[in-house]
Amino acid sequence: MEIEINIVPLTKDIITCNLAVFTEMSSQLIGDYWTLDHYLAELDRKWDLSSVVYADNKLCGFIIVSEKEDSLHVNRIVVAKEFKRHSIGKLLIEKAIRDTRELNKSGLTLKVDAVNNGAINFYKKFNFEQTGTQGELLLMKLKLPE
Ligand SMILES: CC(C)(COP(=O)(O)OP(=O)(O)OC[C@H]1O[C@@H](n2cnc3c(N)ncnc32)[C@H](O)[C@@H]1OP(=O)(O)O)[C@@H](O)C(=O)NCCC(=O)NCCS
Repeated sequence: MEIEINIVPLTKDIITCNLAVFTEMSSQLIGDYWTLDHYLAELDRKWDLSSVVYADNKLCGFIIVSEKEDSLHVNRIVVAKEFKRHSIGKLLIEKAIRDTRELNKSGLTLKVDAVNNGAINFYKKFNFEQTGTQGELLLMKLKLPE
């Protein structure tokens, strides 16, 4: 049977009602624990740009994006372990790339742990390139043509 996949805007209610699910999904990001306050933090245009994905009504991934100067920035992207490699991350990052284009931004930026090879390979698939380092983190950007 086909799984029904839906991508919808992230809201404060979705976070508050599903904090345990967000926490469980994010437990894959060892050493980067977020409390409710982190999830609800106000960032420029966050509530216009962030999304969640449901697979058959089960919350299985999310992306938190905000505006940073002339770019959009991915603050966090996570897909639940049991849903990885089913193109849910692709759905989330492609939405962020579309928004970046529609807002005429110079690109989409993010920070990723230098040892997180799975995520780095995922970003490279979408043509993100390393632009620098910050301690243990790689700074990456998908530059969009002018
Ligand atoms: C990174 C992450 C969001 C990718 O989500 P996903 O839904 O599994 O990715 P997709 O299925 O959409 O993958 C799209 C393509 O990216 C590449 N890719 C994804 N994960 C990969 C991995 N672990 N290793 C190599 N390539 C990978 C593949 O080319 C893949 O296409 P394919 O499955 O047809 O080969 C997910 O692995 C995740 O949540 N990881 C844990 C949290 C995390 O590290 N977040 C990033 C923090 S900066």
